[in-house]
Amino acid sequence: MNSAVSRRLFLGGGATLAGAGALGASVHVAAASSPATLPSFGPKAGVAKLNANENPYGPSKPALEAMAAASGQGAYYVGESVGMLKAMIAERNGVAPEQVSLSAGSSGVLTYLAVAASKQGSILGPDLFWDTTVKKAVQQGGEIVRTARTADMGIDLDAMYAAIDDSVAMVQITNPNNPTGMLLDGDALRAFCRKASKKCLVLVDEAYNELTEDPEYNSMVPLIKEGHDVVVARTFSKIYGLAGMRVGYMIASPENTELVNRFGLGDYAMNQAGVAAAVASYNDFGFLAISKSKIIEARDMVTQATTEVGLTPLPSQTNFVFVNLGDLDAEIFRQKMAARNVLIRGIYGDYTHWSRVSMGRLEDVKRYVKALPAVLDEMNA
Ligand SMILES: Cc1ncc(COP(=O)(O)O)c(C=O)c1O
Repeated sequence: MNSAVSRRLFLGGGATLAGAGALGASVHVAAASSPATLPSFGPKAGVAKLNANENPYGPSKPALEAMAAASGQGAYYVGESVGMLKAMIAERNGVAPEQVSLSAGSSGVLTYLAVAASKQGSILGPDLFWDTTVKKAVQQGGEIVRTARTADMGIDLDAMYAAIDDSVAMVQITNPNNPTGMLLDGDALRAFCRKASKKCLVLVDEAYNELTEDPEYNSMVPLIKEGHDVVVARTFSKIYGLAGMRVGYMIASPENTELVNRFGLGDYAMNQAGVAAAVASYNDFGFLAISKSKIIEARDMVTQATTEVGLTPLPSQTNFVFVNLGDLDAEIFRQKMAARNVLIRGIYGDYTHWSRVSMGRLEDVKRYVKALPAVLDEMNA
């Protein structure tokens, strides 16, 4: 940022240094909130943002109203609202409020647990999953061990179980998985969790659970109540459409909750507006149903369109689709889409011929579908 811009931001547009008086004195910066001085939030006009698994149908109207009210009290640290959110989550899941840990997105609790576990041994995961938080632990000296996938790009639970030895402190499964979008069968995963948790802690990241056909069947939360050493992470970033408001949570035994809380700031890290939005959205089943139906409509559209042009989309139970581009390079594909103002994800590790597209607004997904044949023609030319 050049100094003129930074000074303008600091002083709020019209104000001048001379008018502000000495630094540290009471400076009236009301003009700082004028739109001219604010950065843009969200995608720029004309851009189809399909690269981060967000839900553009959020925040819901009640969430927006709750945020406005909470922002008015933004001078104060969170208090009653976090207690209310934890109580709501605890009640729905049949656990005690003390078994719910909140953080800024589920990334917070996932990172704290990864760091905690990696002090006791390695973290075992499939070759491809949302491993951003485990990488934070690796940066601090932790180790990740990966098992090969099944032939159909799924998570190989047998291979994972066979790989658990005394050096493994935690197994991490993302279900449905990101970036594949694929879902493990609920009963198969339950059986795995029951036996694996006798050997080490099992973390199931259920960020996209609400988007699956049968969320209750697919959730591992009941295993925690049965006393298995299982922890479940959830988020308000996906179906609730609150990615930017940063609210996620973990459900765990009191001991595992204590482990997580040792590394995080707990309630102190939460923000008023985010918590208010989460409280207002949690039981808004009408909004959730609308979001889900739009996402499924978009997903069907992408599945059909990619198949029609000869590509192979994986079966997804999430708000994104992982598409096999055959022998085409996923980074070049991303660049050609970006040139048409359609933003999608680039390459994941060794998966150089796979491309992930998120379900944004229907009109934006239609732009992806429309661009598809032209981009492929260019790449095949
Ligand atoms: C599987 C999975 N877990 C967790 C997250 C973290 O999201 P958040 O920190 O917004 O809850 C993501 C984000 O994309 C994800 O894909």
